[in-house]
Amino acid sequence: MKLVHVTDLHTVPPGDRLYGLDPAERLDTVIAAINRDHGDAEICVFTGDLADKGDAASYAQLRDCLQALAVPYRLLLGNHDNRAAFLEVFTDHSRDAHGFVQSFHDCAAGRLIFLDTLVEGHGYGALDQGRLDWLAACLEDASTTPAYIFTHHPLSPIGLPHFEPYGLNDSAAIMDRVLAAGTVRHVFFGHVHVDANGSWRGVPFSCNRGVAHQIEPNLSRSEAIFIAGAPTFSVALIDEHDVLINRFDASEPVVIGQWPPK
Ligand SMILES: [Fe+2]
Repeated sequence: MKLVHVTDLHTVPPGDRLYGLDPAERLDTVIAAINRDHGDAEICVFTGDLADKGDAASYAQLRDCLQALAVPYRLLLGNHDNRAAFLEVFTDHSRDAHGFVQSFHDCAAGRLIFLDTLVEGHGYGALDQGRLDWLAACLEDASTTPAYIFTHHPLSPIGLPHFEPYGLNDSAAIMDRVLAAGTVRHVFFGHVHVDANGSWRGVPFSCNRGVAHQIEPNLSRSEAIFIAGAPTFSVALIDEHDVLINRFDASEPVVIGQWPPK
């Protein structure tokens, strides 16, 4: 089973730019690469910060861009998003009984779980107001099935100081619930605009640096330095034994050689 992970689009209204970049143009480049090379993916998951200022004009721009995507998709919200404005445009998007943009998708790989960690007006995230109970029930409901969690905010810190004030509230309690389920094979997240991989208490995770502006990774600096690397996405190949993840740049690389040589 193949899935695509895209994150941090930061779409702006048509004609606007963000840090000198055109987020919609960068998203178009990513969508073209997915259609060209990964049109056989079962699903494409966008892990939040869909719109930079959470406004309806940006969500309409995003909806227009997504019309070109050949793969079924699911959208998550990030701290830059606005739930009501999002649902004004994506009126039919899946949500839970409390109106949070949370849902799941059962497939050959197991259960894909899509979380809503947005706390409007804040950079940090949370799974309060019943959201953590929803996750626990979602895991319990499929207690013998492998599970994969998609979230905007990482479930625990990733070791970069800049993000420490903008993490997920009660992350230890959330990890307790994830570990108690015993079925989570991987956590995919966004938010940090850097490439990050590792494991939290034995649960593997990954994040790519995303579509829009990116952040220079730094292990001591608390400020964020924005950079304009190539827009990226990841592809996961999942079977009963393995979860294999590769990150791709959507722009054309400079080819400097070949092996074996011609
Ligand atoms: Fe972001």
